Formats: sequence, structure tokens, C-alpha cells
Amino acid sequence: MAQRKVITTQVAIMGAGPAGLMLAHLLAKAGIESIVVELRSHQEISETVRAGILEHGSVNLLVDSGVSDRVLREGDRHDGIELRFNGESHRIDFQDLVGESVWLYPQTDVFLDLSARRKADGGDVRYAVKEATIHDIEDAPKVWFTDEEGVDYELQADFIAGADGSRSHCRAQIPEARRKRYFHEYPFAWFGILAEAPRSSAELIYANSANGFALISQRTETVQRMYFQCDPSEDANNWDEERIWDAFRSRVNGNGFEVKEGPVIEKTVLKFRSFVQAPMRHGKLFLAGDAAHTVPPTGAKGLNLALNDVKVLFDGFDSFYSTGSTALLDAYSDHALGRVWKAQQFSYWMTSMLHTAADADDFSRARQLGELRSVVSSRHGRAYLAEAYTGWTGER
Ligand code: DHB
Repeated sequence: MAQRKVITTQVAIMGAGPAGLMLAHLLAKAGIESIVVELRSHQEISETVRAGILEHGSVNLLVDSGVSDRVLREGDRHDGIELRFNGESHRIDFQDLVGESVWLYPQTDVFLDLSARRKADGGDVRYAVKEATIHDIEDAPKVWFTDEEGVDYELQADFIAGADGSRSHCRAQIPEARRKRYFHEYPFAWFGILAEAPRSSAELIYANSANGFALISQRTETVQRMYFQCDPSEDANNWDEERIWDAFRSRVNGNGFEVKEGPVIEKTVLKFRSFVQAPMRHGKLFLAGDAAHTVPPTGAKGLNLALNDVKVLFDGFDSFYSTGSTALLDAYSDHALGRVWKAQQFSYWMTSMLHTAADADDFSRARQLGELRSVVSSRHGRAYLAEAYTGWTGER
């Protein structure tokens, strides 16, 4: 093989999802160089449908760091959600309970804003590379990759940020003896659709029913995003529109509420699990976002956690390059994991409280309704949910 072309930077970033691009943006603003390497094409990332809720802290990061204020103009502020069970909806009023809101703004738009900002600022982002691998992470980190034209590179860097998503190559390079993996599997998945229909409700509805969970979310005036709990082995092709709408009707309709139906333009089965790899750092490799942890989707914490990792990691790099101190980089993993485990707890709790296991006995079902009633009938219960959903304000 011909020799690799050697290029250098300060921070090599694996992955051009929101975590990788946000890190590159923050570094650039602080005068720190980075090169982002991504296996997928820009188009492929733009076409992936992901979750849609941003905590206020994530919105502030996008706006205050100068990525874009499009979220404020085109996103929708939500001051609460509805928990629905036993055919009745109960509002969790975020503003009243914790004085915060969240924004409905799909992850795809966050990616488009970040990639446009990197482009406008002359950032070096290599999409659609082949065979990107990392090497020598303990002392002289490098990334080997082949670009779209077939040129082989060796990218040498001071550090590598592994923001390469839930099937991370980076996390697998941390020696087994030096890391621990935590898993929790769930006996259900989500069936996600996009449908051409008006909004069914002003706010998101998280519905528990004997037939399983459903989430009525939104996208625009004319297209809506909704999910219902299904078996992980389900094949989306076996579900025609009538069967899909039947699943929603049997979980959310009743007492004057009816989901608004329309043509289904996208359908996918989304498998999920809880996963953490700790520590989030080995040598000169730092993991961020889904590369280090995934949460079940209930409550939409994934992207928010990734952006929080990046904020903490950026502070570490900024401090190192301006003072030479590694103290914040050394504290990165513990600092980030504090919030990661809170979000793991919240996502696990929301998932187990709202979904119905196929083999649930009468006791489990009645206990679950007792739990839901406990939450909605107590201001403290509602406030706990509101605080976690909007993003743990007290920590700012
Ligand atoms: C969406 C996804 C979620 O997991 C959630 O909790 C709320 C909204 C969404 O895609 O709109």
C-alpha cells in the first residue's frame, strides 16, 4: 500500500453527529484546531429521523455559542407534557413546577445547523470516509482513514474525541481490563412513524395503557411523529396503516380524545437498551455521547446528554490549551458520568413506569397505576419529573 499522507491537528474528532460537530465548533471559537472524520455522508445523516426534544441547556448552548438561533424561530417551546393513563390525561406543568421549558426541535435540524456553521466557519469535516480507525491512544494518538477519493491518511493529534455513536469503534479500543460496561435490556421496542396529519394535541402525550405505551409527539403543522410500544422482533413491513392506527387508537383514544390520523410516510422499529461504558477516557482518547452511553428513548435524553458531555469536555481542552493543566481533562469522565447516571435513572424510570410488559401479572399492572397516580397527585412527584425532563436546572 502507498504511504499514508500525514496530516496533523490538535483534536481529532471521530464522528460528525451533533456531539462531534458541537465540540469542533466550541474548539474553533477558542482557537483550538480540530479535524472531524465521519463514515456516513452528509446526506445520510440529514435523512436519519431522530428524537425531537431539547432541554433548555441544549438550546442555550446552540444559541449562546453562535451555532444558530433557528431553534428559537422555528422550534416550538413546550411548557409541559401530558401523562395519560386509565383514559385520563394529567398535565405536568414545567413552568409552574420548575420554571423551565423544553423545545421541540428535531436532532436532524441540530445537525443541519451545526454542519452549516462548521462550513461557514471553514471547519475541516471529512464526511463519507472509509475505514476510519484509531491507534496509539495511550501516547501518540492517530487516526487512519481513507477519504472519498481513495487517498489514505494518517491524522496525528494531541487527543482523540470519540463521538462515533452507539456502534462506536473508539470505545472498543479501550482495553477490556481498563473499562466496565453496564447493560440493561428491555423486553420492548418502539414503532416510530411520521404521519401527514395535524397535531393531535398542543403538548406531547406519554400514554400508558393495558395495551402498551404510546407517545404522541409532533414535527410541523402538517407532519407528526408518534411511537407505540412493540415487540423488539417486530418487522415494520408487517404493519399496514390500519393496523398502525388501531395500535394508537387502543392506547390513547377515549374520554373525548382521538388521535388525528393520516397517511404514514415513514415507519421504523427502534430497538433500545441502557448502556454505559466507564470510564469515558483512556489515555488520550475521550468518549462523548452515544459512544459512551445510550438511554432508552422515553424522555429524549440522548442528544441532550451528548451535548452536555461535549460542554464538559470542551472546558477540559480549553483549560489544557490555555494553561497546560490537565485537571479538568482528568476530571472529565467522573464529571460527565454524574449526569449520565441521572439520565439513565430517569430514562429507565419513565420507560418502566409507562410501558406494559407482555407477561405483566395483575399485581405489576395495578402497582404501575399506583405509581402513576403517586406521581401526578403529588407536587413533589410532578416536580421530580419536570426537573429531570427539562434538564436538572440546579446544576447550571
Ligand atoms: C420524541 C422522542 C422521544 O423519545 C421523546 O421522549 C419525546 C419526543 C420525538 O421524536 O419527537
